[in-house]
Amino acid sequence: MSSEEEDESIIGTKEYWDTLYEGELNNFNEFGDEGEIWFGKSILAKLIDTICQLVPNKETTTILDIGTGNGHVIQRLLRRGFVHLTGIDYSEKSIELARTQIGSNIKFQAIDMTASDTSSLNHFDIGIDKGTLDAILLCSSDQRKLKCEAYVDTVYRHIKNLLFLISCNWTRNELLEFFQPKFSLEREIETPTMLFGGQQGKTVTFLILKRND
Ligand SMILES: C[S@@+](CC[C@H](N)C(=O)[O-])C[C@H]1O[C@@H](n2cnc3c(N)ncnc32)[C@H](O)[C@@H]1O
Repeated sequence: MSSEEEDESIIGTKEYWDTLYEGELNNFNEFGDEGEIWFGKSILAKLIDTICQLVPNKETTTILDIGTGNGHVIQRLLRRGFVHLTGIDYSEKSIELARTQIGSNIKFQAIDMTASDTSSLNHFDIGIDKGTLDAILLCSSDQRKLKCEAYVDTVYRHIKNLLFLISCNWTRNELLEFFQPKFSLEREIETPTMLFGGQQGKTVTFLILKRND
């Protein structure tokens, strides 16, 4: 195995997500289990509450959930009255799972956020990324810069206003560096901190980025 292959995490591969969502689909069909909520329920609640506070017009605002997984973010936004919701994921198994759980009235599309051609995707007022950029950047280190640039280009092409971004692998400053000059910081949302070796650190970073014209 080459050193490039060694530094690529299994979580950075599509096979990993296809297998995971195939299992989640079986669990949902058999036991009605919603599946994994990345970063836990309190971060999910904080995300949904923040969107509800900052996005007043639920009937007209268009929202894209980037890397929708089992679709639980869409599910919560639907319950809170949002209407124009779309979920995308590069795993076709995720799309099948989200459609099975939520129904065909919501648009779900299989799209790779790092592809150069994403013309089949619409334009949206708001984007949400909970853990998807983290997963994309678990590729081998020699591909990381290219993948990151491709992802930011896609977000820039399709998101007209704000991106709600939650990451557990990158700090606020690293994330801002990835997105500049296309997006700038609108607001950082407080998340739990922990003390380790005398230093205060965050387990999760939650940023709201604004698209620059
Ligand atoms: C950590 S999971 C987060 C799922 C969901 N957002 C959540 O909060 O539970 C990362 C998701 O990103 C998706 N993903 C990874 N790489 C992608 C890419 N290049 N384009 C689109 N989706 C991708 C995976 O299939 C997976 O559903």
